[in-house]
Amino acid sequence: MAKALITSALPYINGIKHLGNLAGSLLPADIHARYRRQIGDDVLFICASDEHGTPAELGAAEAGLKVREYCDRQHLIQADIYRRLNLSFDHFGRSSSPQNRALTQHFFRRLEENGFIEERVLHQFYSHTDTRFLPDRYVVGTCPHCGSGRARGDQCEACTKTLDPTDLIAPRSAISGSAELEVRPTRHLFLRQTALAKDLERWIETRSGWPPLVTSIARKWLDEGLQDRCITRDLSWGVPVPKPGYEGKVFYVWFDAPIAYIAATQEWAAIELEHRDWRRWWWEADHVEYLQFLGKDNVPFHAVSFPCTLLGSGEPWKTVDVIKGVNWLTFEGGKFSTSERRGIFLDQALGLLPADYWRWWLAANAPEGSDTDFTFERFAREVSNDLADTFGNLVNRTLSFVASRFGLVVPEGGAPEEAEWQVVQALDGHLEALRRYQSACSFRKAADEIRAIWRLANRYFAEQAPWTTFHTDPNRCQVVVRTAVNLANLCSIVAWPAIPTATEEVFRAVGRKWTVPPWPRSAAEALDLIKGGEVVSVPSVLFKKLTHEWAEEQRIRFAVSERPC
Ligand code: MF3
Ligand code: ZN
Repeated sequence: MAKALITSALPYINGIKHLGNLAGSLLPADIHARYRRQIGDDVLFICASDEHGTPAELGAAEAGLKVREYCDRQHLIQADIYRRLNLSFDHFGRSSSPQNRALTQHFFRRLEENGFIEERVLHQFYSHTDTRFLPDRYVVGTCPHCGSGRARGDQCEACTKTLDPTDLIAPRSAISGSAELEVRPTRHLFLRQTALAKDLERWIETRSGWPPLVTSIARKWLDEGLQDRCITRDLSWGVPVPKPGYEGKVFYVWFDAPIAYIAATQEWAAIELEHRDWRRWWWEADHVEYLQFLGKDNVPFHAVSFPCTLLGSGEPWKTVDVIKGVNWLTFEGGKFSTSERRGIFLDQALGLLPADYWRWWLAANAPEGSDTDFTFERFAREVSNDLADTFGNLVNRTLSFVASRFGLVVPEGGAPEEAEWQVVQALDGHLEALRRYQSACSFRKAADEIRAIWRLANRYFAEQAPWTTFHTDPNRCQVVVRTAVNLANLCSIVAWPAIPTATEEVFRAVGRKWTVPPWPRSAAEALDLIKGGEVVSVPSVLFKKLTHEWAEEQRIRFAVSERPC
């Protein structure tokens, strides 16, 4: 059995994520995990909240809570939303876990023993008012490049240039607003990525099947020359640096966060009494295929920094095989932004409509080749066409027909004829293509195939018009109805990774108790699964149509940022 280790980029703990985060990593990872389970692979799907760094500290300060308490609450809120979105993590862990603390310190010690850690003295802002150093986002001021007054110490929001806090004009503390800052020397540790460049280059050459977007970002970093990377910060919240003289300092969040992929697997292994072994996935695990799903801004950390940590340890850790990095989802022509509260946040999305609507649209319009723009108008039109008029329609029409004409018993008369064989042939082609696209994580193309299967099933039912043959040719009617029931089931099996809730309702209606619906071996077999004599039920309407008026109402509602900070 093939083993697939799947991780989604770890969402930051501060606040509820938006549809862009769902589209960029969480959903594609989930769809792929479900598909791999369907074809019988042994899958481990891991995610966690990314809890360290300045975003967590600032979020806690804003909420008036201790950081630990803030993270405890936010973790539960996020976990609940992902459950409602039907994200099928085997485990949703926390980067602030004891496991991650121990493992992060372990990697540091190994890197130090291997000579890849170097101490340097940096000059950073110290705030007298706050009696502390102000790293990264703790300093705000005016951007030296574009003059925007909203620049942060790590980056300018307006022109997106990356910054060093000391670049800022008129710098002040983000905590107290105080401008009484002094540049003071402070000791920090650097990971000598320059010394690992050769190893990294060799490693990248052994990777195959990375999307061009990912390879070009990784190559750009290598070609421009790897820089040594500062992996410590003057903060109190984070993984403590286990080195004399570093009391009161912690590791940089981007050092410990990817390590949490492994640590969250350790959490998973520690929970239940099933003799789970995290090593089978991460240690000397050449037989495992490891796939990472992430947005394009995360590519450098996964293609360069994290591999440097793993390679530099000199230990046989599993490194990533396939990095699936995607472009951005934009919102009504602009950026989704957590800090500006622009876009649709996941709790709001779930308040508007069940998860499947969002899942389907985001999969069918995955920002793979280029950025994708979400508009309510498009969303309403497309989900109405695909989910209500095509998929939902087929299921309800077919099963209602079995109810009204055959008392909910699948009819057993007649035998397949030319029309059925043609459907089988066409389906075999679609199933093969779908399998190819799902394996390659081409989500848009996969959705196109699923839609094509739904349309084919609808066309078949309409053309064979069992309501006519019911009177004129009962045997013919019975084959068609039986075939249509099986088609409704097959339409659900292939769509399960994208729309699990609605399809599971169909499985229940046709008496199938699957937790994972197995991938059909052939169309002929799939259409002969539900036999004459079996009893079915009619599910409630699976999807409602979304009108133009609905879309317009939402567009106006979400145009103003309605969420108070
Ligand atoms: N929290 C980061 C973000 O949202 C992603 C962290 S991914 C990990 O951009 F590799 F660090 F875990
Ligand atoms: Zn700027």
